[in-house]
Amino acid sequence: MRILFLGDVVGKAGRLAVKQFLPKLKEELRLDAVLANGENLAGGIGMTCETMDELFAAGVDFITSGNHVWRHKEIFSRLEKDRRVIRPANYPEGTPGRGHAVLTLRDGRRIAVLNMLGTTYMEPLPCPFRTALSWVEMPELEEVPVRLVDFHAEATSEKKTMGWALDGKVSAVLGTHTHVQTSDAQILPQGTAYLTDLGMCGVEQSSLGMDFEIVLNRFLTKLPVAFKPAKGDISLNGACIDIDDITGRAREIRIIRENCPAWRAEKSAGRGDESL
Ligand SMILES: [Fe+2]
Ligand SMILES: [Fe+2]
Repeated sequence: MRILFLGDVVGKAGRLAVKQFLPKLKEELRLDAVLANGENLAGGIGMTCETMDELFAAGVDFITSGNHVWRHKEIFSRLEKDRRVIRPANYPEGTPGRGHAVLTLRDGRRIAVLNMLGTTYMEPLPCPFRTALSWVEMPELEEVPVRLVDFHAEATSEKKTMGWALDGKVSAVLGTHTHVQTSDAQILPQGTAYLTDLGMCGVEQSSLGMDFEIVLNRFLTKLPVAFKPAKGDISLNGACIDIDDITGRAREIRIIRENCPAWRAEKSAGRGDESL
């Protein structure tokens, strides 16, 4: 099974990048499923029902998230109802939605997905390692060898250790949250694909997708100003993982990195809308 996992999709530029590149990637890579981290979908922070639907319409099958998932309250009930969207699993009991799910493809094949937040330099949530190690032991996972983990975390040490802890127990451990793609894509000794960070979809000439000038002012003055998504050329970043359906072991992990001028993506998105 071949799966594309996209890093944090940031704002309109990120959504445009998905619309621009996904049709071509689906064809070229013969993808069975596409997953994306959507925590920055709406204006760069959080997700709304509309922006999630836009991503699904663009060809994404499943959305994971992260620390910004709670920004827009309108999605709380959606997180409860929609089985194609998850939030980090290690939020306390009673938090809306769920942290893991099993996605069933049109041909009946299944993919188990777990989303977690790191706790190093982040919120002091329950331990993600204990969460992951009990998830892989869940009886409902016995018949689902293809398992993906989106570890939304800040510290490289925490991400690398998660990869090692889950090696041979899941198909892939993929990092999100730092928005910068790392160059350490690898298959771990027991067959788990690993990448410290998938990168982001959005404007790369920016501070993690946000306008440099505003972020610089915040660093200079320490005043609480609202960030604004950056404008400029758009990029799509992620990884394509080839997984053995029977064993759940990864055969290959390939970095995906595309970019083009914003006007070109806007033009093709516009054409697409007209044809609807
Ligand atoms: Fe993010
Ligand atoms: Fe994040």
